[in-house]
Amino acid sequence: VSLARRAVLAGGAGLAGLGVLAACGAPPSRLVRPTSPVVGAVDRARRHTGRTVTSRLVAAPGRVDLGGPVVDTWSFGSVPGPTIRARAGDRLVVDLSNGLPAPTTVHWHGIALRNDMDGVPDMTQASVAPNTSFRYDFTVPDPGTYFFHPHVGVQLDRGLYGVLVVDDPAEPGAYDQEWVVVLDDWVDGTGQTPDQVLASLKSATGSGMGGMGGMGGMGMGGGGMGGESMRSPLLGGAGDVAYPYYLVNGRVPAAPVTLTGRPGQRVRVRLVNAASDTAFRVAVGGHQLSLTHADGFPVVPVTGDAVLLGMGERVDVMLTLGDGAFPLVASAEGKQGQGLAVVRTAAGQVPSPAARPVELDGRVLTVADLSPGASAILPARRVDRTHDLVLGGSMGGMGGGMGGSSAGYVWTINGRTFDRQRPLDVRQGERVRLRLKNATMMFHPMHVHGHTFAVVDASGRPGVRKDTVIVAPMRTVTVDLDATNPGQWMTHCHNAYHGEAGMMTTLSYR
Ligand code: C2O
Ligand code: CU
Repeated sequence: VSLARRAVLAGGAGLAGLGVLAACGAPPSRLVRPTSPVVGAVDRARRHTGRTVTSRLVAAPGRVDLGGPVVDTWSFGSVPGPTIRARAGDRLVVDLSNGLPAPTTVHWHGIALRNDMDGVPDMTQASVAPNTSFRYDFTVPDPGTYFFHPHVGVQLDRGLYGVLVVDDPAEPGAYDQEWVVVLDDWVDGTGQTPDQVLASLKSATGSGMGGMGGMGGMGMGGGGMGGESMRSPLLGGAGDVAYPYYLVNGRVPAAPVTLTGRPGQRVRVRLVNAASDTAFRVAVGGHQLSLTHADGFPVVPVTGDAVLLGMGERVDVMLTLGDGAFPLVASAEGKQGQGLAVVRTAAGQVPSPAARPVELDGRVLTVADLSPGASAILPARRVDRTHDLVLGGSMGGMGGGMGGSSAGYVWTINGRTFDRQRPLDVRQGERVRLRLKNATMMFHPMHVHGHTFAVVDASGRPGVRKDTVIVAPMRTVTVDLDATNPGQWMTHCHNAYHGEAGMMTTLSYR
């Protein structure tokens, strides 16, 4: 694998697909807008601490040890990359150096930042060319658990990601310690880079999927996924790619990271799903989880046995440590395989890589269980504008997706692949409603840049605040947001392959 990857990198073949964004969009002239005075004014009007946090990210090819498998890949120096910490209201200054043989950017996922720092190439900035650098400089307005990754092709899936924690200076530390736990699916080992996987998906016509697995199993009925899928809140559709490894903090289950503490301690776990194509069901053997934050924002704490996280979602959970050694398992929802970390407070055997704590099949917390904490409630008001987003598509030749048209690997919003000329218009100050209508048998974790939205609950009121929400097959999720952050904002599926195959649009302030 390593040698093959290296050869691919040296030959530049791994860059296929990186031009996707540029190739299917409009001429750049309309897209790259100079920093508007409005954007600057909104940023300046924000609450500031007066403190500046500086950091540096170097994106580069390199060899990474996943705890057995050694891979040549692209990363910010390690997988996950460095964790950046700031306090709400701080100015964050991050110098990105691009040591990759391809253009890149950094997107600050979930942060309501100034638009020109959002990291979308040819829309909010010119992409950062190889051997050049770019300074990201913005205020982090809201506390919470966030992450960052390039917004170019499927570079995220190579391991280019890291966590951004924004602390709340006003929050009392009601816990003894904190763990950052990052989940990933690792495509290397299929013998293809993520870009090659995307290219083969796009060129496939339903057979001969090469390194791809799961194509046959993800069709209309979600068949072939075994009994477990029957109980899955995702109702079937698992993912488009079969991954050989699932990682927790960059390690395969055979060589898990150990998270240590003392019995009785209260631990805040910041869980981040950085995977490109995999939702995870997470449980800790012998422990209950109290979910306190979703996508950084407080929820009314709710206790369960496990949590479900779509790609791009984060949750903070509290647990009270037991006495011994316990498996923290991230089970790939609807797929075979899992990631593992070890929670240890005493001597005891290392859990087996295949450990299946009973909690995985207990009460699984999903967005339906969540309601907003007091500070996260979006006040009810009249909706000024509603946009319907019909999520459609089709998988290699199956012609499966309703709402999509052509055969092949295509994912659409309102029947179109990403079309920058037809953004969703909003105006400053409006309450905007997005109705996310899934017309496929796959789940789609839909993400809106630069805003958090309230998921409208069963009674029609604005509920839990999030920036990424799973839309289950054939279901509709309605979200409301206040348009208070002017700019051009990507809105897309955070399955990196779906997004890059067209399931993207833009929220555009007029
Ligand atoms: Cu992590 Cu456009 O998103
Ligand atoms: Cu999707």
